[in-house]
Amino acid sequence: MAILLLTSGVVVVLTCAAFLAYEFVTFRQTTLKNVSTLGAIIAANSTASLAFRNEGDAREILSALRAEPHVVAAALYDKRGKLFARYPADLPVAAFPVAPDRDGYRFEHSHLVGFAPVAQASNARLGTLYLQSDLTAVYGTLRLAGAVAALVMGVSLLVAYLLSATLQGTISRPILALAQTARGISDRHDYSVRAPKLAGDELGLLTDAFNQMLSRIEDQDRARRQLITELERSNKELEQFAYVASHDLQEPLRMVSSYTELLERRYGDKLDDKGRTFINFAVDGAVRMQRLINDLLEFSRVSTRGKPMQPVDVNRVLGAVRANLSVAIREAGALVTNEALPSVVADETQLVQLLQNLVGNAIKFRGGERPLVHVSAQPGATECVFAVRDNGIGIAPEYFERIFVIFQRLHARGEYPGTGIGLAVCRRIVERHGGRIWVESAPGQGSTFYFALPTGNGGQVP
Ligand SMILES: Nc1ncnc2c1ncn2[C@@H]1O[C@H](COP(=O)(O)OP(=O)(O)O)[C@@H](O)[C@H]1O
Ligand SMILES: [Mg+2]
Repeated sequence: MAILLLTSGVVVVLTCAAFLAYEFVTFRQTTLKNVSTLGAIIAANSTASLAFRNEGDAREILSALRAEPHVVAAALYDKRGKLFARYPADLPVAAFPVAPDRDGYRFEHSHLVGFAPVAQASNARLGTLYLQSDLTAVYGTLRLAGAVAALVMGVSLLVAYLLSATLQGTISRPILALAQTARGISDRHDYSVRAPKLAGDELGLLTDAFNQMLSRIEDQDRARRQLITELERSNKELEQFAYVASHDLQEPLRMVSSYTELLERRYGDKLDDKGRTFINFAVDGAVRMQRLINDLLEFSRVSTRGKPMQPVDVNRVLGAVRANLSVAIREAGALVTNEALPSVVADETQLVQLLQNLVGNAIKFRGGERPLVHVSAQPGATECVFAVRDNGIGIAPEYFERIFVIFQRLHARGEYPGTGIGLAVCRRIVERHGGRIWVESAPGQGSTFYFALPTGNGGQVP
């Protein structure tokens, strides 16, 4: 609205200015032409009076200028440039130029002044006519033109205002309504609102299209929410299932193992070698199952049994890991070294679990050499990146993703024992802390497992 008015206002002002300038210039030219014509006529009439030096005649001729009220002064100079006759007669001599200037008319201050030669057609110059005309006519015209321009300006601005006020109703209002609806949606994420249709024209079509788009988004949003709810529910159920299943499996499993042990103790000597081997298999299976159940329980507890986040000194966490893994470290003759580690905001129990799985793997998946494990940390602005490096068998790049999926293992149980749950637990723990986990490795070159914890929630303590 304001822009519309400003634009039309500027256009009108420029037009009026051009109109006024044109008026001014043309009217000055017309005045100049009129005065010089008048001068030529008077000069032609004055030849006789100058030739015969008849002052009365000269004054008489000049007084004819009364008919032209804009001519405020006139004079005749003789051949030698002396003032000969003047008009009006009562104007003092001092008001006239002392001597004639060069011929021609020019604008001086607020007057048009000029000198015209007085000469007979064939004879030499007899004298000079002086004319002075005021420009009130020019200014009067200019004033009139100005008044007209102002009127035009006022009327056109009024019309522009009325027009834009009407257009505002038909164009801006539907657009403003659309914009308001769009803002409301982005503020409240409520896709059920619709923009009101205020016109049946193209803007109405735009509103319809906008509302249609909203319906589609609303449908998609509803479907998405439903999907999320279902996913959350099924995830909870799965967790619950895994927990209950593994928990409830413990009891019958304990029975199996204690009775096979009893069997071996009481009737071991009555059995042949084959029988004892069978019993060993059964005990071994029970032990493996116990481990699997424990790992599954651990996995299902990551999100359900998580403890609140607190500042944790990772050096202390590594101390606990060393203690928990002391048997494995001693048996493998492993050397676990570390740099000074920072403190982070985390669930301490889970951080022990995480680091223990990584260091445990680093020792377990060793090659022929003595296992060397190094733990370091790189604190950053938004996250703190921890690294567990080993000199073990390494991993081919195509398995970098797969190893973090539950039950995914790259080796037969005979080669390296395990359930394939450890890294899945690690990933769940890191994700619960809002971080990420990844590996860099090459077969035979050792592996480095990284995990990043955001500073803030589950990050570095400032
Ligand atoms: N430090 C490591 N060096 C080489 N391979 C590894 C290492 N850590 C994990 N892996 C591979 O990733 C697989 C998954 O590891 P994980 O989930 O801990 O299961 P598990 O230890 O029970 O085998 C392992 O079976 C192994 O093939
Ligand atoms: Mg493991």
